Amino acid sequence: MYVRRGIDHRLKSPPIAVGLAFLLVAILADARELRLGLITPPGHVWTQSAESFGEALKKASDGRHTVTVFPAQQLGNEAQILQQLQTGAVDMAFLTAAEISNRIPEFGAFYAPYLVKDISGAATLLRSDVALSMLEHLPQQIGVVGVGYGMGGMRQILMRKQATMVEDLRGRKLRITPFAPIRDFYQLLGAAPTPMPLASVYDALANGQVDGIDMDLELIVKLQYYELSETVLLSNHMMFPMVGLISARVWASFDADEQAMIRGLMRGELDALVDAYVTEERSFEARLRESGTRIIDVEKSFFGSAIQQWDDLWIGRAPVLAELRKYAARVEPEESVESQ
Ligand code: BEZ
Repeated sequence: MYVRRGIDHRLKSPPIAVGLAFLLVAILADARELRLGLITPPGHVWTQSAESFGEALKKASDGRHTVTVFPAQQLGNEAQILQQLQTGAVDMAFLTAAEISNRIPEFGAFYAPYLVKDISGAATLLRSDVALSMLEHLPQQIGVVGVGYGMGGMRQILMRKQATMVEDLRGRKLRITPFAPIRDFYQLLGAAPTPMPLASVYDALANGQVDGIDMDLELIVKLQYYELSETVLLSNHMMFPMVGLISARVWASFDADEQAMIRGLMRGELDALVDAYVTEERSFEARLRESGTRIIDVEKSFFGSAIQQWDDLWIGRAPVLAELRKYAARVEPEESVESQ
C-alpha cells in the first residue's frame, strides 16, 4: 500500500510540480519594475500623482508591477528622459507638453497666449477631442504612447523689482522653461527670455542672474520665489499642460488587458491631478495675497499686439491652433481671442 501510494505519488506529482513551477516562472517573468521619470521636486503635485499611480498599479496587479518614481531630474532633464523613453531605458514619464513641442511643433499651440482665460478653461480644453486626438500620433512621431494630459498652474510673471507696465519688461532677463513658444512670447514683448531648468530658478533669482521669472502660482508659493520679488503680475497668460507618457517599446510588451489597466490607472491619476489644480489654484493665489507681495492683476490687453503677433508666428508651425482657438471661443465665448 505504502509502496503503491509512493509510486502513485511519484507518478502524479511531477506534472503538478512542473505546472506550478511553470506558473511561477510565468508570473515572475511577467512582473515588472517600472521606472517613471520627471523633473519636479518630491513634494510637487506631479510627483505625488506619479507616486499615487505607482501604488494603484501595484495594488491592481496584485503586487506584480511596481513603479519607482525618479523626481527632480534624477534621470536627466526632460529632453534626456524623452530619449530614454524612446529606447525603453525609462518606462514612463510625466513631461511638460513644452518638451513635446520641442519635437512636435503642433504641441506649441497649447501655449498660445490667452488661449483659455483660466485654469478651468485649461482643464476643459485638455479634455476636448481636439486635444486628445493630438496624442494619437505620438507613437509614430516620437516613439512614446501619450496616455493623457495633466497640467501645471497658469503662468504668471514674477519680477525682482517693481513692474507695472509691459514696458517694464523690455530688455529684462526673464527666466523661461526651455521651449520656443514661450521664448517667442517674451521676445515679442521686447524682453530677454532666458531658458533655465526649474532646478536652477531659485538661485538665479536670488543672485540677480535674472530680473524675473515665468512661473506658476503653486511654485511661486511652495518654493517661496515670492520672497525674492517686489511684484507679481497675475496674468494667467498661458496654460501649462503635462503629458503622461509610456515608452512605445515598453507598451508593446504588455498584453491588451494590461495596457487597458495601465492606461485606466494613469488616466485616472492625471484626471485627478487636473481637478486638484482647478480646486487649489485659488488657495495658492490666496496664500500669495496674504504674503503681502505686491500683486498686479493684468489681462490680455496689458500685452497689446504681442498676442496676435504670436498667433501669426505660430499658426503656420502649429495649424491645430485654429481648432483650439475655435474650441476655446465656443466654451468661453467672451474671453477668448478669436481664431484666425
Ligand atoms: C517650469 O519649468 O516652470 C515648470 C516645469 C514643470 C512643472 C512646473 C513648472
